[in-house]
Amino acid sequence: MSNQDKLNDLIALRTKAKLGGGEKRIEAQHAKGKYTARERVDILLDKGSFEEYDVFKEHRCTNFGMEKQQFLGDGVVAGSGTIDGRVVYVFAQDFTVIGGSLSETMAQKICKVMDNAMKVGAPVIGLNDSGGARIQEGIQSLAGYSEIFQRNIMASGVIPQISAIMGPCAGGAVYSPALTDFIFMTQQNSYMFLTGPKVVKTVTGEDISVDDLGGAYVHASKSGVSHFVAESEEDCLMKIRKLISFIPQNNMEEPIITSCIDPNNRNEESLNEIIPDSVSKPYDMIKVIELIIDGGDFFEVHKEYAKNIVVGFAKMGGMPVGVVANQPMFLAGVLDIEASRKGARFVRFCDAFNIPIVTLVDVPGFLPGSTQEYGGVISHGAKLLYAYGEATVPKVTVTLRKSYGGAHIVMSSKQLRGDINYAWPTAEIAVMGADGAVEVLYAKEIAALDTPEAKAAKYEEKKKEYNDLFATPYQAAKYGFIDDVIEPHTTRFRIIRALQRLQTKRVTNPLKKHCNIPL
Ligand code: HXC
Repeated sequence: MSNQDKLNDLIALRTKAKLGGGEKRIEAQHAKGKYTARERVDILLDKGSFEEYDVFKEHRCTNFGMEKQQFLGDGVVAGSGTIDGRVVYVFAQDFTVIGGSLSETMAQKICKVMDNAMKVGAPVIGLNDSGGARIQEGIQSLAGYSEIFQRNIMASGVIPQISAIMGPCAGGAVYSPALTDFIFMTQQNSYMFLTGPKVVKTVTGEDISVDDLGGAYVHASKSGVSHFVAESEEDCLMKIRKLISFIPQNNMEEPIITSCIDPNNRNEESLNEIIPDSVSKPYDMIKVIELIIDGGDFFEVHKEYAKNIVVGFAKMGGMPVGVVANQPMFLAGVLDIEASRKGARFVRFCDAFNIPIVTLVDVPGFLPGSTQEYGGVISHGAKLLYAYGEATVPKVTVTLRKSYGGAHIVMSSKQLRGDINYAWPTAEIAVMGADGAVEVLYAKEIAALDTPEAKAAKYEEKKKEYNDLFATPYQAAKYGFIDDVIEPHTTRFRIIRALQRLQTKRVTNPLKKHCNIPL
């Protein structure tokens, strides 16, 4: 065979490999409105940057005549590439090859990608589209999943791990995405569950559709399992690229600071008027965030879940930051079980990857009641408390309005090692609101009065006395718990300057095997 023939063979093999499960199955994939694994990788990565591994790897199963079902590369496309010039490692399950079902060989390919990503300290992105464990392989496939899970665990907090669910993801297979930092789902064709509708029906009698059990909307809004919902596959892949722009390559690097055309000292006069006159009136915290960050460009995480707290990425003066803010538009911005879990997870991601945290506070407290108590709000609330107290990244806090009780402490207070704590003049930092305080302190005295008018007058008098003393930021400022009371329109400038001063912050926690966050 001449060298030219050998070259032609190679080209022919590569062409065959690129067809995955073959043209018919590619057509079927397209007919469902889905891209193939290779098409997805091409959209995700910088043009021409993909370096593929293991194109010629094949499965070794001979059960049920599987030796006749061979596809070059088996059911996953794996390798590395770049996003905006930065290296990322990628695997994309190929549904056209035996339904993307996971073989021992596929698991080895995925593990190789993860091992290489760990070696060089680069993010791993997994595009999932698979019928789960390859049934014909049995235990070898399960072992393959276990190898992947173990690597997910070892990589956690070392390199960013991102999962996109672009097809089915069922059974224990959901646990690899669940172990990663962020899960993207698409509105169509994307679902995750431990057991599918048929098994649910058999075991519990419940009749439920695939989408209602584990579709994108369900996981974005009810379970909180997914962090982002994309309108389409392209949208999903573009969103992953955007997420990468905020995060560093690994836990030893800082996030990349970019040039910023939005002036650092841009004053926002409208912020002076954004807090309504009445404390019970809401305003949209997203507006505040958009007014203070670079170009109003907020990349919200967990948008549909626990809307009473807002978390997401932004840049300030070109510096990537994680923003955590109470949202008065939903449940008055109260902290509850879901909000605590959402906030804690985000704070811990930012801390693990050296991303400074900007916290905007307007919180009336924790949501009271038996539902919350039975659900374990004590433990869940403690997660957020723990996350903030554990975090060593720069922490800049601005209290806009209410900051009461335990929720005041939790939301990046001075005592939880908040580096710079500002307050607006509209801030009210106290143990509780005036109504609650008057009720506790003066209920008996007021009840003893003869007429309703006298009762109302006493109530108002005590409320005013309490508000004059506590419904301000100055008590906290007096003790140095607030570093400065700032004019709202200067908020952007003050936060950016604080972040710049904190860039060289170095704090370490005591050495330990690992922490014991209340899970
Ligand atoms: C082997 C599989 C497969 C699997 C799909 N296929 N899943 N082969 N093992 N797990 C094959 C099909 O036989 C078919 O082959 C091809 O992939 C495409 O599948 P279709 O069923 O034709 O596609 P579609 O109608 O779109 O349905 C997709 C599906 C369905 C919903 C994913 O295939 C399905 O229900 N698969 C089984 C899902 C499942 O229960 N998996 C095990 C979960 S438990 P041909 O040759 O006909 O085209 C698990 C444990 C993991 O994964 C534990 C980890 C710890």
